[in-house]
Amino acid sequence: MKATTKKKINPEQSALLLCEHSLLLEKANIIIRDIDNRIIFWSKGAESLFGWKQTEAVGKYFHKLFEVRFREPFDTMMEKLFATGKWEGELIYKRKNGTTIPVSSLWLLRADDGKVPASILELDNDISSLKMIEHEITSSREQLRNFAAHIQSIREEERTAIAREIHDGLGQALTGLKMDLAWIILKLPKQQNQELVKKIESSSLLIDSTIKTVRRLTSQLRPGILDDLGLVAAIESELNEYQNRTGIRCTFHTEFEEVSLNKESATAVFRIVQESLTNILLHANASEVKISMKKSASEFRFTIQDNGKGISPEALARADSFGLLGMRERAAVFAGEVTINKPSPRGKGTLVTIKIPEES
Ligand SMILES: Nc1ncnc2c1ncn2[C@@H]1O[C@H](COP(=O)(O)OP(=O)(O)OP(=O)(O)O)[C@@H](O)[C@H]1O
Ligand SMILES: [Mg+2]
Repeated sequence: MKATTKKKINPEQSALLLCEHSLLLEKANIIIRDIDNRIIFWSKGAESLFGWKQTEAVGKYFHKLFEVRFREPFDTMMEKLFATGKWEGELIYKRKNGTTIPVSSLWLLRADDGKVPASILELDNDISSLKMIEHEITSSREQLRNFAAHIQSIREEERTAIAREIHDGLGQALTGLKMDLAWIILKLPKQQNQELVKKIESSSLLIDSTIKTVRRLTSQLRPGILDDLGLVAAIESELNEYQNRTGIRCTFHTEFEEVSLNKESATAVFRIVQESLTNILLHANASEVKISMKKSASEFRFTIQDNGKGISPEALARADSFGLLGMRERAAVFAGEVTINKPSPRGKGTLVTIKIPEES
């Protein structure tokens, strides 16, 4: 086995090392304060970062010199420092030239005999570029969110316009055709060929079923009931239709006839409910869906709960779960929130919760 041999350092070498170390420390952004927060040591690094010379800084109260912008009360920070020996966080300091600088600051408490607090060592890191990147990410995320909201609202407008066109154009033409056929049957001479009458009657039935298809199409594009009777009625009607179509048992529990949400946020909630129902049909293998709506002081809370196989954490975290992302984004536009999880730790199925502020 290889023995590790430690080189012995003689006193001269150790003094030299100490000197070298202190020169290195001088380069770091180090400040030492007494326990009243007066600066007692100011490194060359601090000098070049903040601009004040050692002679200008030493003796000053650090928070006055820097005109520190605290995020939490200074007393609380000092209490934490004295209690745990350490404080760290982000602060904004003012430099000698008047500009501000965000720093990530670490404070360590030194105590005499390990007991009596004696001084505070402060290490500062310039985080301007980090903050700039952070700001860019936040603002581009905000831009993307606004863009997505804009596209959603254009999409809703377009769907409403197409639904209206189909309803008014195609729907009315079909009704006209049906009336014409009825008129032709009336006008046909009594002894007229029965075959012809039968043909006209079957055409009339075909028109009836086409009218139904047109109605279904228009209401899929934009449920008129949402605009005419409001969100509660629209959810009720959607659930009825869903139950008939899928055989999944649906219940809707609400204490209110209508909600005080504006048209846009009501549309957002409705589309989130629709996406949740589609997901349940496609992925959950559930036999039952329960929807409830409650209102607290300032927000509406909708829950959609199924008794299916439950959503996996992987599906929740996947970046390409665009249906789920769309649900969250739609709510976020109105300062709301969508959460998706298990109904309870041991519960079965999936619970989607939509929170939307009342004013939105
Ligand atoms: N109620 C649910 N129960 C079980 N799994 C679910 C449920 N809802 C969603 N999932 C899972 O989450 C995944 C992501 O859902 P998401 O709606 O984002 O995408 P999708 O439905 O597969 O496609 P689309 O983009 O058409 O909505 C689904 O593929 C499915 O695995
Ligand atoms: Mg989906």
